[in-house]
Amino acid sequence: MKIAISGKGGVGKTTIMAMLADYLNKQGRDVLVIDADPSPHMAQSLGVENVDNIIPIADMKEMLTQRSGKTEGSPFYNLNPQVDDLLADFIVEKNGIKLMVLGAIQTGDKGCACAESTVLKRMLTKLLLSPTQMVLLDMEAGVEHLGRGTIAGVDQLLVVVIPSKSSVRTALKVKKLAQDVKIANVAFVGNLVHDQDDEAFLAEALGETPIAFFPDAAAVRKIERDGEPIIKAAGEVAVATAALATFLLPEVAG
Ligand SMILES: Nc1ncnc2c1ncn2[C@@H]1O[C@H](COP(=O)(O)OP(=O)(O)OP(=O)(O)O)[C@@H](O)[C@H]1O
Ligand SMILES: [Mg+2]
Repeated sequence: MKIAISGKGGVGKTTIMAMLADYLNKQGRDVLVIDADPSPHMAQSLGVENVDNIIPIADMKEMLTQRSGKTEGSPFYNLNPQVDDLLADFIVEKNGIKLMVLGAIQTGDKGCACAESTVLKRMLTKLLLSPTQMVLLDMEAGVEHLGRGTIAGVDQLLVVVIPSKSSVRTALKVKKLAQDVKIANVAFVGNLVHDQDDEAFLAEALGETPIAFFPDAAAVRKIERDGEPIIKAAGEVAVATAALATFLLPEVAG
């Protein structure tokens, strides 16, 4: 199953994805997290050591060009580059959770590094095709990436939304664009929810009830300020994570 997460900036996408990855890993799932945010933050959230040593694959331009088979001055490159060995090379592992840091993929019309992005896209497609893995894709904020096709082929999009009008506006826009690119399942996840009024506001403004509500947790704030990995969070956020995982995969209820 392939799950991506989206929503307005700073609403808690990385936090929730890291918690979900940790929960599913502890339930014995084979979890691969892909950090597709140009400002990657997932490694730190998962507690990977030497985070600064991880170079996003998209930044390895020379390697990507080489792999595409493109030579200087030539407009031609291989549309089906061999990438299997790269997949193994660029995955780091922490407590059984696999992580790949993708970085910023340039696929715009202008300045498009097409040879490189072909290699990256091929890697992503291969990862998304693996049948046994849970692939969790952490995305950058906003809606632009939905037009880029990075998340085409995911089974489920989670849209994180906090109880504010502007967050709801972005969430509704994300849902519409996701449906336009034919993502089969799109669900809202409430975060920074204080009380039942917040829950009711979200349900009403979104036109449907989010599948899980994460509280505004002092434990999460403390962990972040102490520079600890977020997956250490226990208590209410762990309960919300279990509820989210159970919705996504009823058989993991544990
Ligand atoms: N449930 C929560 N309770 C308390 N603090 C939270 C909660 N969820 C997220 N935060 C805090 O909010 C901040 C933003 O969270 P996070 O980085 O997960 O958001 P994001 O949506 O991934 O941001 P970006 O758009 O920059 O990628 C962090 O400092 C995080 O610790
Ligand atoms: Mg993030």
